[in-house]
Amino acid sequence: MRKQIAAANWKMNLTYPQAENLLTDVLNAQIELKEDQQAIFAVPSPYLMMANAAVASKDNYFIAAQNCYNKESGAYTGEISTEMLHSLNIEYCVIGHSERREYFGESNQMLAEKINLCLEFEITPIFCCGEPLTIREAATQNNYVENQLRESLFHLTPDQLQKIVIAYEPIWAIGTGKTASTEQAQEMHAYLRSVLAKQYGQNLADNISILYGGSVKSGNAKELFSCEDVDGGLVGGASLIAADFIKIIQSLK
Ligand code: 13P
Repeated sequence: MRKQIAAANWKMNLTYPQAENLLTDVLNAQIELKEDQQAIFAVPSPYLMMANAAVASKDNYFIAAQNCYNKESGAYTGEISTEMLHSLNIEYCVIGHSERREYFGESNQMLAEKINLCLEFEITPIFCCGEPLTIREAATQNNYVENQLRESLFHLTPDQLQKIVIAYEPIWAIGTGKTASTEQAQEMHAYLRSVLAKQYGQNLADNISILYGGSVKSGNAKELFSCEDVDGGLVGGASLIAADFIKIIQSLK
């Protein structure tokens, strides 16, 4: 059975004390997660160790890095390797967020290399995909997102692919307050699952978690997560407010 996941992406926000307080407030809510539910916090790199210690005693709570580099080690000043993350016992890493694709020129090929390094060091990639507004307006979003999956993921063996979490984040919905409708989210998630099924078989496709991201709020999470193929969310702005993210975790099905 695939996991239902509420993932916070804090992006480049919060000072260290603010981050500690936010995590404490969410954890203090003592939300009991079912066996197939997870809460993940993608925190800025300097906070990884603190955050991992904070969730250490909590079942089904995990910490993610927001990025890693596509080389194993060496003279890459300022970058963070998957081996380093592994040595900190970090179990998840967001890969290919649209902000990284846009501001840091990350290509599908580069992301394929990052995915490989994550898997080599036992880190579960949360692979982000999603189309810009122009593509949505041209109604070519299915091909566009399918291609992102093909070029970054479809070199993987079935064993490797089943370790991936996918996050569909339409760029026009990120930070805009404009959420995809439940119909739009369900339609794309079902399409992506059908693409996975064609390539890897229905059984494997049915076991991959596909999260929705883009203006998920405490008020719309339940409806979005109720869609058959939406297995939770990757949440930016609303994950910075404890009360909101608590409600979002509680909206998991
Ligand atoms: P918002 O929830 O702020 O729209 O951000 C979504 C996102 O980019 C999560 O990775």
